[in-house]
Amino acid sequence: MRTQVGIIGAGPAGLLLSHLLHLRGIESVVLESRTREQIESTIRAGVLEQGTMDLLTEAGVGARMKAEGALHHGFELAFEGKRRRIDLTGLTGHSITVYAQHEVIKDLVAARVAADGALRFGVSETSLHGIDTDKPSIRYRHEGEACELQCDFVIGCDGSQGVSRASIPQALRKDYERVYPFGWFGILCEGPPSSDELIYARHDRGFALISTRSPNVQRMYFQCDPKDSVENWSDDRIWAELHARVDSHDGQKIVDGKIFQKNIVGMRSFVSATMQHGRLFLAGDAAHIVPPTGAKGMNLAVADVRVLTQALDAFYVDSRADLLERYTETALKRIWRAEHFSYWMTSMMHRVEGASPFEQQLQVAELEYVTTSRSAATAMAENYVGVAGAQAS
Ligand code: PHB
Repeated sequence: MRTQVGIIGAGPAGLLLSHLLHLRGIESVVLESRTREQIESTIRAGVLEQGTMDLLTEAGVGARMKAEGALHHGFELAFEGKRRRIDLTGLTGHSITVYAQHEVIKDLVAARVAADGALRFGVSETSLHGIDTDKPSIRYRHEGEACELQCDFVIGCDGSQGVSRASIPQALRKDYERVYPFGWFGILCEGPPSSDELIYARHDRGFALISTRSPNVQRMYFQCDPKDSVENWSDDRIWAELHARVDSHDGQKIVDGKIFQKNIVGMRSFVSATMQHGRLFLAGDAAHIVPPTGAKGMNLAVADVRVLTQALDAFYVDSRADLLERYTETALKRIWRAEHFSYWMTSMMHRVEGASPFEQQLQVAELEYVTTSRSAATAMAENYVGVAGAQAS
């Protein structure tokens, strides 16, 4: 089989790229190792920057996000028993939408299916061939048959454990990584929101985050040992921990509810500074990982796709290869800004085992500063909404 662009991975990056290319008359095939049910139900984060919403809307998949997502104009920072608001819209003119990643995936899959897009689920034994020639191909197994997809370009959107990044010769790769000594315990629970806006809390017991999914379903997290097990945490123990970390001295309390999902995720920062090799280009988690504190993961994947779509469009429509050649350089500017911001938020908000009382007071001093200085608050807000730095244009 032959196509123009072979895409590995049906996450937000792979699906959105496939759909944007389709709207420009460029053909693609998406290969995914999991089933449709699996990708549509995996629980991930859910904050969309304005630029992400704009691109989803441009792709024609923004209707449900607008109807069901919650538009937020600020968030709260909780520390030392008080809460202070960061006025995102007042400081930057932009807002964010809380809409779960698997809902974005459902909307994109529906759009690809409605457009008769080629989307293969449950593929295995995927391997890349000839990526340093102008005739690359992808071999894989699908429904028991050995298949080969010949294409002009291969786009690796298959996450950090996928085959794409691993197909770039090790000697040509430059990776940067930091692993954090803590994880996030996430819950989904029934009940009303505890607050109109997200609450990021710093406490001597550790970080906590109050987020939302709908008027009746809430998403909350608290810092934990990444090796801990969900079985060690009864519902009562979870609520006691969340109350201890988030409730304010003036009596503002989070609202308990029936917990129906628990999971633990590790935290890592990672950048592959080699995002392209020959006819292979990496996008999203295949090239970079951020800790979830800055809410940047899906937004970075979508930003890569924006750059790639323009570059592939220039190649096919204007026979220009220069944008493709500059893909890594262009994408890395935004990626490193988001890496720094996510690292900074993480460092300011989390309890570090063995941190001295002096270091703990520095975290509090920094929170005092970003919540009282308009310029410090603006710096935080423009990073959070995704318009910081030269890459914003
Ligand atoms: C979420 O709602 O899952 C969420 C929100 C904000 C974050 C991370 C996760 O920073």
